[in-house]
Amino acid sequence: MALLSVKDLVIEFRLSKRKNIRAVSGVSFTLNQGETLALVGESGSGKTTTALSLMRLLPNNGAITSGEIIYAGKDVVNAPDERLRRLRWKEIAIIFQGAMNALNPVLTIEKQIVEVIMLHEDISEIQARERAVELIKRVEIDPKRLDQYPHEFSGGMRQRVMIAMALACNPKIIIGDEPTTALDVMVQAQIFELLETLKKEMSLSMILITHDLSILGDICDKVAVMYAGQIVEYGDVQSIYCDPKHPYTEKLLSSYPVIGGKRGIPDSIPGLSPDMAEDFQGCRFEPRCHKALEICKTLPPLRTCGENHQYLCHLEGD
Ligand SMILES: Nc1ncnc2c1ncn2[C@@H]1O[C@H](COP(=O)(O)OP(=O)(O)OP(=O)(O)O)[C@@H](O)[C@H]1O
Ligand SMILES: [Mg+2]
Repeated sequence: MALLSVKDLVIEFRLSKRKNIRAVSGVSFTLNQGETLALVGESGSGKTTTALSLMRLLPNNGAITSGEIIYAGKDVVNAPDERLRRLRWKEIAIIFQGAMNALNPVLTIEKQIVEVIMLHEDISEIQARERAVELIKRVEIDPKRLDQYPHEFSGGMRQRVMIAMALACNPKIIIGDEPTTALDVMVQAQIFELLETLKKEMSLSMILITHDLSILGDICDKVAVMYAGQIVEYGDVQSIYCDPKHPYTEKLLSSYPVIGGKRGIPDSIPGLSPDMAEDFQGCRFEPRCHKALEICKTLPPLRTCGENHQYLCHLEGD
């Protein structure tokens, strides 16, 4: 049984009395223990919204309107508050988008980690401090630095602190929402290396959200490519990298070129993602697709190729 399984998830936001947008439409995926899933796609494709719904942390104007989220065999969509409290941080922890800049500048690193631990666990301050030392070592920071302040830490170090906080209650799943955006490429690679080590040592499962598929190849097992609220391609990392079927995935892969071991400047895909308030009659990517045919103006089928590879497209790949 999968640790987490999401089926036909639909999430809507209320914009005004009469206007709703469907930010996530019919998303399905599974996550097994010890597995890492990459959730990839352009800005606005619904990655953060999907991630937040897994912990039922959607903004007030957002709601899961249909579909299923099952964690460890239990329903999340209608889970009672008591179970949600446990689910958040003790079962699933999230490193929020831009979180490394959200550390409190007037508190030491130790105080901030201790605060998180004490908020969620019924332990004494002394025990929480011991735990903070363990956690900071886990993320490969010298515990001597615990009494320093955030401004004394580099971006990469601050992100390590955020990871330590996410680990505070020994969760089974860590969600990283763009955990390395704004860091330089070398530091990004170090953070991913750390996540990979932690995943193995603690048999964690992870969901990593990113725009940039090229950096995740070594550390993820599965990839879900999102476009305009849907997963348009889903599969094992090898099949997605070596044999992408959806034209959008192809474009995403080629938009972060690797030149002589160095990553080039990303080439954005021409055109804009659609207005999510729209009622879609055809493929959502069709207006931007370099391979579009007349038939693409009708709803595309979900195709399966190989055991663990699916894509939403009229074209049969290549
Ligand atoms: N609170 C909200 N109210 C209304 N619309 C929202 C709200 N939050 C998100 N949306 C909309 O839902 C869609 C998905 O947003 P989401 O933040 O999940 O995208 P994302 O893939 O995480 O993008 P990014 O890469 O920029 O973080 C977007 O169209 C966004 O404008
Ligand atoms: Mg986001």
